[in-house]
Amino acid sequence: MLTDCKTLISEGAYGKVFSVSSKYAVKVETDKGKRKRRLREEARIMKLVQGPGIPRIIHHSTIDGRDRLKMELLGPDMRKIRKSHGGGLGFRSTIMFGIQALERLEHIHSKGIIHRDIKDSNFVIGKNDPTKIYLIDFGLSVRLERYNSKNSNYCTVDGFAGNLLFTGKESHIYKNRVSKKNDLESLLYLMIYLYKSKVNKRKISKSQSFKRIPALPWDRKFEDDENLHKKIYRLKDEFKPQMLGKKFPTEFKEFMKYVQELKFDMEPKMNYCQQLLKRCLNRRNFNLDYTKFDWLKKVYLIDSKSNNAITLYSGNSRSISTKKRDNKCLHKRNIKDRLRGKLDQKDLEYLKIIK
Ligand SMILES: Nc1ncnc2c1ncn2[C@@H]1O[C@H](COP(=O)(O)OP(=O)(O)OP(=O)(O)O)[C@@H](O)[C@H]1O
Ligand SMILES: [Mg+2]
Repeated sequence: MLTDCKTLISEGAYGKVFSVSSKYAVKVETDKGKRKRRLREEARIMKLVQGPGIPRIIHHSTIDGRDRLKMELLGPDMRKIRKSHGGGLGFRSTIMFGIQALERLEHIHSKGIIHRDIKDSNFVIGKNDPTKIYLIDFGLSVRLERYNSKNSNYCTVDGFAGNLLFTGKESHIYKNRVSKKNDLESLLYLMIYLYKSKVNKRKISKSQSFKRIPALPWDRKFEDDENLHKKIYRLKDEFKPQMLGKKFPTEFKEFMKYVQELKFDMEPKMNYCQQLLKRCLNRRNFNLDYTKFDWLKKVYLIDSKSNNAITLYSGNSRSISTKKRDNKCLHKRNIKDRLRGKLDQKDLEYLKIIK
């Protein structure tokens, strides 16, 4: 029995994650059937890859035939962050996220591990250090030495596993093949997804149209028939850098080209990819400063009832009176004028109005 568990963080098909005494996270296996003992392998893999940006393991135990993995408690995952930031991330945050994610992939690959489930909910930020990105969930990960050799760049396993939206295109055809290239390709799609989800949402509100513009050409529901993998494969195969549009600089398109042309058995050059992403930042006059992640910005929300501005900053909030003088509908400019003098210019840029 899990008596010391406090808050449920997440419940998946095969396991639950709880936070315990605001210090630890405990992942518990719930399924006694097919995937039984997956958590045992996950714990083994996590021990192999312990290092910066990987949650620290406290211990792994088996109680009543059920595995439990106790680890350090981290912050929210990128899926939750994305949702609370208008659906996606800004350009700078997306690129800085990518630079850290490449470091995580390079690290686990150097230990002979392929993650195989790169997606937004499997990256979390640090609880004490929200500038740091952690890679979690090694539930589908593969130890290369088990199927090939520790130093190889790919292996052949028992069948398809992963996420249809983010998995590399070749895994739709060669379902048994797992490669380092596939992890990198998933990261490429994830970055485009994070950024485009934000850009597309802006477009929607400007045109007053609520039609959802997919962030990736295959980001929609497919009929689950025997052609499912073929259909997604074709869309991924036809997806070319020039389709990214002007919002992405040339260097990002070079990154995409490099990833797409990489052979499945090649070792990805993570350093080269990082250089390209750093050049994307330079191109847009940004420096690499992790304290500038979107989720660390001060966001001012206007409470329409009291007309007070409430600052949300790393979970803290404070109110600033906007001195409402009339009953007219408040416009963003009015509120900005009222807040001038109370906030500095940079903070005013982040002003958001929630009605
Ligand atoms: N150490 C941790 N600290 C804080 N939150 C965590 C931690 N580990 C996991 N989580 C949260 O729990 C969620 C589920 O964890 P995880 O991905 O490991 O489980 P899962 O059952 O394999 O999930 P899924 O199948 O949905 O990918 C994560 O997306 C994250 O939000
Ligand atoms: Mg997960």
